[in-house]
Amino acid sequence: MERIKIAVFVSGGGTNLQAIIDAVNNGALDVDINLVLSDRMDAYALERAQNAGISTVYINSKDFKEREDFIDRFLRLMEEYDVNFIVLAGYMKKVPPELVRKFWGRMVNIHPALIPAFCGKGYYGMKVHQAVIDYGVKITGVTVHLVDEQYDHGAIVAQMAVEVRDTDTPETLAERVLEYEHKIYPLALQLFAEGRVEIKGRKTYIKDK
Ligand code: GRF
Repeated sequence: MERIKIAVFVSGGGTNLQAIIDAVNNGALDVDINLVLSDRMDAYALERAQNAGISTVYINSKDFKEREDFIDRFLRLMEEYDVNFIVLAGYMKKVPPELVRKFWGRMVNIHPALIPAFCGKGYYGMKVHQAVIDYGVKITGVTVHLVDEQYDHGAIVAQMAVEVRDTDTPETLAERVLEYEHKIYPLALQLFAEGRVEIKGRKTYIKDK
């Protein structure tokens, strides 16, 4: 089996990126992080990557006149850095469909709720947690899923449930959910590293060790 060499796509603080870096460094996650890519130059996640000695790159469609050139550059970057797996970790841009198709089955995202609840267009950041609280559900959670061409839609790889407390604000809930994100993302990636994720139609199956 080919070793997994990931690019992590980020736009913000990068706490999930940090959890992945830490898991690699402490031996819990057996992948190479070849690149951290951001659509924002000021993403703190880039600093985390640089501190860990990981290559970083900024790319944003707004800097390209022709969409085709943007896509070309994007695809070339994946080749240049020898990337065979993409991890979205707080990446706020829609990934170009050309990339989604090329990396199908080898691109994952994390969503801070239990898909198919509180997901899809418009459900990002604090809006997710606000919606969870407004609805009054008692349990929310985290979902790692494959990326396809629709928001938060690809096959689910792993989920964990997180309690919603009566006293929660979106901020306190986000903080609790984030702790679980940091647990589940390295675990889910390790399943891929071990070749244990089988994709059949709209579902994934986790093979025993
Ligand atoms: C996380 O809540 C993740 O679920 C969502 O964006 C947030 C990113 O946080 N997709 P961080 O940048 O990893 O701290």
